[in-house]
Amino acid sequence: MKALLCGFGNVGRAFAEMIESFPDITLSGVVTRKGLMLGKNREFKTHREVSVLEAFHEIKPDIIVDTMSANYKDGEPSYSLYLSALNEGTAVITVNKAPLSLHYSEIVNASKKHNAFLGFQGTVMSGTPSINLRRIMPGQISQIKGILNGTTNYILTRMYEGLDYDNALREAQEKGYAERDPELDVNGFDAAAKITILTNVFFNTSKTIKDVKFEGIKGINSSLIKEKKEKGIKMKLVAKSNGKDVSVTLSEINENEPLYSVDYVTNALEIISEIQNITIIGPGAGPKNAAYGALSDLHIFRGKMML
Ligand SMILES: NC(=O)c1ccc[n+]([C@@H]2O[C@H](COP(=O)([O-])OP(=O)(O)OC[C@H]3O[C@@H](n4cnc5c(N)ncnc54)[C@H](OP(=O)(O)O)[C@@H]3O)[C@@H](O)[C@H]2O)c1
Repeated sequence: MKALLCGFGNVGRAFAEMIESFPDITLSGVVTRKGLMLGKNREFKTHREVSVLEAFHEIKPDIIVDTMSANYKDGEPSYSLYLSALNEGTAVITVNKAPLSLHYSEIVNASKKHNAFLGFQGTVMSGTPSINLRRIMPGQISQIKGILNGTTNYILTRMYEGLDYDNALREAQEKGYAERDPELDVNGFDAAAKITILTNVFFNTSKTIKDVKFEGIKGINSSLIKEKKEKGIKMKLVAKSNGKDVSVTLSEINENEPLYSVDYVTNALEIISEIQNITIIGPGAGPKNAAYGALSDLHIFRGKMML
């Protein structure tokens, strides 16, 4: 099977290394802003100065794996690439949240119409099965609720332990958990993009990020965290949805709630269904974890799901 890898940054490189152990997958090309590299090489070399769409038409892969940066303006070039690929029956695996939080129904409909595989586990909670869990959960879900952004959870945890906001943010940046520009994390946007995708998956809706009411933790006061701590409460940035109302809010979490013990960069998702409630807890970011999310999609695509 021929694969075209789009993006060769932290996640793309981790993915390229991981699929070396899949003998039936050939990495036929890697495309970035610099153009197309044919075959694989640890150091990127441009063989042709082409766009991702042109690379797709040249390589004619069986599968594309998108590890490109998120473009929240219009989801491009990923959005057009997915539609072209799915329309031709090519499988799409992505860790890029932007196209799915902007154009979910168009992308899923193209996948269904052409019976082309679409995997996007790596977009939410990386390698911790959140999206792919829905594939094995029949029936109605009444609510989902989670901690979906590691940076803000790290900052809130360190503030609970006594740091102020600026020092907690600086520490998150020093440890590589927060970007140099952490705006999309601390203002709640990243969690909003993730709960948009989860809502569509768990409630079969067509929401976009514009339907989500969100707030962040920017400049949150240490005294609030301290005051709540004295009452046995932790403040967490919680993304929540019942399929109609979708939000990200700074919320009080009591000791008896599953999200209470989810600290530092760990993510969690509570799924409340008619039959039972489950909570999954695991890493939500990191290049290897995101690549592992894509790998789990590949695993499903190849039908290697038997124990
Ligand atoms: N890092 C994580 O922990 C994590 C976790 C989950 C999901 N993700 C998602 O994974 C994706 C990649 O993250 P990353 O950390 O690997 O980012 P990164 O290191 O900045 O790499 C991004 C790659 O995308 C390529 N790219 C950007 N725009 C492009 C365009 N228009 N055409 C072709 N290539 C383009 C870049 O090309 P150049 O090399 O030419 O600049 C680069 O190779 C993002 O969508 C991110 O949200 C990341």
